[in-house]
Amino acid sequence: MIHEESIALLARRIRSASAISVLTGSGVSAASGVPTFRGEEGLWKSYSPQELATPEAFERNPKLVWEWYDWRRGLISKCRPNAAHEVLALWSRRYPKFTLITQNVDGLHERAGTENVIRFHGSIWEVFCRDRCPSSPERWLDETVPLGKIPPSCPYCGGLIRPGVVWFGEGIDSEVLRESTAALDCDVFMTVGTAAVVYPAAGLVDAAHRKGAFTAEINLEPTPASGAVDLSIQGPAEVILHSVEALL
Ligand code: APR
Repeated sequence: MIHEESIALLARRIRSASAISVLTGSGVSAASGVPTFRGEEGLWKSYSPQELATPEAFERNPKLVWEWYDWRRGLISKCRPNAAHEVLALWSRRYPKFTLITQNVDGLHERAGTENVIRFHGSIWEVFCRDRCPSSPERWLDETVPLGKIPPSCPYCGGLIRPGVVWFGEGIDSEVLRESTAALDCDVFMTVGTAAVVYPAAGLVDAAHRKGAFTAEINLEPTPASGAVDLSIQGPAEVILHSVEALL
């Protein structure tokens, strides 16, 4: 099916949907200048997740891990939402039953105006006490760029704080899982800008399909999900979403 037909089909499905859910990955922030993980320039090409994005890495070397997150926070703080974030924010206001689940921790969906974002992997702008000390909240916002001290200390107990993101080997927050599972009951489920290789996020589109949703993928290149969805559109999310919106 050629691009225009695919875009028109997706627009028709969105128009007739009463509930829409979207899962996004780092590909939607690429046009904003936020590095992806597995693409050509992906972060995992130059850094090892085992060194930087696991609880063991943090215990082994909290300074190194925080230096990396401080660098990413500084980079992201200079980035702006792009058309992909803006179209999704518009849809979140227009469609009463619209749910956005993101794997991204950059906060750009929120900065574009999308509310109630389900942050599947947490937020790079939140932190929590590594020891979960009794006087500290579960997590809190910390947008300090650059960090004054690396690694930063917990203001409540003087111990370490850690980034409020989900690392490899860690589970997904139970409330996030509950909300994401509820979002599978929809007419249209879109997966946008994700390589569809990290579970459980990568399993959501199949689960939505099994519940009867029309599933669509928008991604720059084919992924393991491409053959299983009802509609796979290859191209930049910021262009494709803008073209779909132009038909709505
Ligand atoms: N538009 C659409 N897709 C794009 C664009 C774009 N402008 N630019 C890149 N992509 C695609 C790439 O082709 C790739 O398939 O986005 C996908 C990004 O894949 P990853 O870099 O693997 O990012 P993601 O799928 O979000 O990673 C999932 O892995 O490292 C963990 O926790 C991290 O949340 C992350 C998770």
